[in-house]
Amino acid sequence: MKKALYIGFIAMTGLLGATAGHAATAEETYKAVCSVCHDAGVAGAPKFGDKAAWAPRIQQGKDALYNSALNGKPGTAMMAKGGSAKLTEAEVKSVVDLMMAKGK
Ligand code: HEC
Repeated sequence: MKKALYIGFIAMTGLLGATAGHAATAEETYKAVCSVCHDAGVAGAPKFGDKAAWAPRIQQGKDALYNSALNGKPGTAMMAKGGSAKLTEAEVKSVVDLMMAKGK
């Protein structure tokens, strides 16, 4: 199960690369990279749009969440940039903004 998810994750990251040249929207980046874990709550990831899961995280402040998304959270499955090093800082931040907006 976990392995299949990671393979799917790598395949989708490849897809994102294929669209390089056009700046991905927050939704596209979320779908291509972050949804693998954040749609279903894999490994304890706060689910997209789950207000109860996001409330305590949003309280940490935007900068703390940007920092976790950009640099990862040590000891968790949340890797730097969701494991997709080619994302730009702006792309990652735009997804965090989207996650915070949907989690409020
Ligand atoms: C491999 C699975 C996985 C992927 C892919 C992933 N995340 Fe996460 N994410 C997690 C997990 C697990 C947590 C919860 C970590 C914890 O606090 O225990 C998390 C937590 C977070 C948090 C909250 C951090 C905090 O400090 O509370 C943010 C923001 C976040 N992810 C953003 C993203 C973004 C943006 C992407 C895509 C670029 C992404 N994640 C991709 C697994 C993932």
